[in-house]
Amino acid sequence: MTAFTLDVHLPPDFAAQALARDALAGLTSTPKTLPPKWFYDKVGSELFEDITKLPEYYPTRAEREILEARADEVAAASGCDTLLELGSGSSIKTRLLIDAIRAHGGLGSYVALDVSADALQDAGMSLVADYPDLAVHGLVADFEHQLDLLPAGGRRLVAFLGSTIGNFEPASRAAFLGSLRAALTTGDRFLLGADLVKSPDVLVAAYDDPAGVTAAFNKNVLSVLNHGLGANFDPTEFDHVAVWDADSEWIEMRLRSRRAQDVHVDALDLDVHFADGEQMRTEISAKFRRETLEGDLSAAGFTPAGWWTDEAGRFSLSLWEPVG
Ligand code: SAH
Ligand code: TRP
Repeated sequence: MTAFTLDVHLPPDFAAQALARDALAGLTSTPKTLPPKWFYDKVGSELFEDITKLPEYYPTRAEREILEARADEVAAASGCDTLLELGSGSSIKTRLLIDAIRAHGGLGSYVALDVSADALQDAGMSLVADYPDLAVHGLVADFEHQLDLLPAGGRRLVAFLGSTIGNFEPASRAAFLGSLRAALTTGDRFLLGADLVKSPDVLVAAYDDPAGVTAAFNKNVLSVLNHGLGANFDPTEFDHVAVWDADSEWIEMRLRSRRAQDVHVDALDLDVHFADGEQMRTEISAKFRRETLEGDLSAAGFTPAGWWTDEAGRFSLSLWEPVG
């Protein structure tokens, strides 16, 4: 029997409403910014999967290496029988966790939450084909605002993989961790995949590959604005830029205007001027240290319950227990 259900918890006008709000705020601020959740339309989700296969983009392989070696330990340390995942995307690495929890004590259900209905649909169909007796539930929702939707019941392991935690600004990261802590109860655990600080050369290459896949991913956000808000961005008139900010310890992704140009956004009735060379920030990807992660997590009401890295020490997987 196949058991895949998909529930859409975003209002039908979510994309239009929230995108309009975010685009208006970001395009009228100095410097200009665009918020990251808009990267993942169908094309964007596919481009992200291509990024994960690039030789320069080590985080996915490093996290998979940890899961291959340690998923059994993670399952044993968590003692959980229900798996919830935030920003699950393709759910490919998650299979290692699913297998380990099933082998350890049994897995009642897997709940995947993502803003991308397309990604959830594809991942769900492929999971039920390979795990016919597993209840797989997709939730189309925003993990910044809708963690109260996480279903209760069982001992829950909430997984947040892929270093998506690094895509929050510090204040939003603290707010997210606080609302996650509030959604958890005794017996639940939080499993976090976080990329670690390393040589800037390695970091910049991971976000600026010579094949231009990351550039295409970054510029795709302009197509999202064109389709969603009737904007007339010409993506070929912008260059992809990735820089390491050593003080903040994050990679900053930007789009740099190739010339002075004006863009019109119909849905906002807004004209936006870009100066020659002007840079608009589209995404950060923060890199972590064990001490700073422990600080952030303990401030939000978590205590450490496990820490694993790949052999080369590039990426971390950590387990946290809610306290207080
Ligand atoms: N966990 C996968 C995918 C990481 S890419 C992996 O490790 O490979 C980040 C994922 O988070 C995408 O699937 C994107 O659609 C989702 N996402 C980004 N912002 C989100 C938000 N605010 N709420 C829910 N999902 C979000
Ligand atoms: N969570 C991923 C990361 O920070 C997302 C990502 C990978 C990304 N490559 C990107 C976001 C390029 C924007 C641009 O590594």
